Amino acid sequence: MSTEAGIASVGIQLPSLYLPVTELAELRNIDPNKFTKGLGCRDIALCSADEDAVSLAVGAAKRALSRWNGSIEDIGLIALGTETAKDMSRPLSAWVAEKLGLSGAVRSYEVKHACYGGTLALRQALEWKWSGASAGKAALVIASDVALYSLKDPGEPTQGAGAVAMIIDEPTVAAISPVSFPYSNPAFDFWRPVGDSFPSVVGQLSLDCYKEATEECFRSLIGDRDSRETLNSYRAMCFHVPFPKMVKKAVLHLGETLGWSPEETEELYRSKVEDTLEWNQLTGNAYTASLWISVARALVGLREGTPITAFSYGSGYGAELLQITAGPAAASAAWLADVEADLSARESVDMWEYETLRGHARASA
Ligand code: COA
Repeated sequence: MSTEAGIASVGIQLPSLYLPVTELAELRNIDPNKFTKGLGCRDIALCSADEDAVSLAVGAAKRALSRWNGSIEDIGLIALGTETAKDMSRPLSAWVAEKLGLSGAVRSYEVKHACYGGTLALRQALEWKWSGASAGKAALVIASDVALYSLKDPGEPTQGAGAVAMIIDEPTVAAISPVSFPYSNPAFDFWRPVGDSFPSVVGQLSLDCYKEATEECFRSLIGDRDSRETLNSYRAMCFHVPFPKMVKKAVLHLGETLGWSPEETEELYRSKVEDTLEWNQLTGNAYTASLWISVARALVGLREGTPITAFSYGSGYGAELLQITAGPAAASAAWLADVEADLSARESVDMWEYETLRGHARASA
């Protein structure tokens, strides 16, 4: 088995609009500190009427392809992780492949497992490469979502959107260890029944499941080793980000169950986790893309060989902890240009424009 496969190129696409959570707080007559300090949120990335999970995925894929030294003919697999499905049968990958002009001897499919779908698509693509089944072809993996809750739902301030595309080939951006640490435990913490436009959530249960999954995955990673030495050997620890405070709660829970002092855990969070949330605070929850937005941020400027972790969580629930090592192209981080361009071009909407947009989302959902 060759482990010489990893992330060869990254492209990110963020939508063209955003709503500061302070505007939403005013609209809902809620103390803005609840959203900013209580949940750690800042902006909600919002799609215009012309944007959706497909256009975001296509934009991210084009950017990843444009800076890769292969061509579309070299792609033998397209896997799209999403929970913003357009259809119960036709995979979202078909809409994207159509726009990219990708057809022929290509395996094309959608992966669904709430926010874990993008990571599963990535793992499958890597395992396809490692197994030799790819016969030298590369995979295009995309995590793309538009996260919207019902109006006035407690999850409304955590909404967001975005897409991350990754070409799986030579590990020039990052290598991913074949050894990962999965954990699942069936739960009804967050779900969207067939025909419903917006999800149902048992907020507290979803927080408890997320914390349990964090603990279990990290315990497997640590095994019999010293927990401090093990976790401190990573430069950064990335997490799926339902909202930034959730990540902090999970890290505090982890430290407590490992027997660390509150000060030690706080330092772990400050030195390894806090910076990885920077872009997530500007996008909000982009479901499958959230973890990969955080990983893309963490990889920026890293020296080749620097290790980080990535914790993926999807309600239902399933989780997996990955070990990632920066490749030679992480230092120059070409995808930083995508984020900077999208953030500087996007326009803020006020609460009245948000209500109009949400009316459109309801009508077209
Ligand atoms: N100033 C500062 N903080 C405030 C505040 C104020 N005026 N008012 C409330 N807060 C704090 C609360 O103390 C709480 O913090 P704590 O948990 O550290 O105690 C935080 O803000 C959230 O308040 P809470 O009342 O618990 O929020 P909520 O019931 O409205 O909803 C979620 C919170 C997470 C449950 C909701 O956002 C949700 O359902 N999200 C979607 C599901 C999700 O993201 N799940 C995560 C796993 S995938």
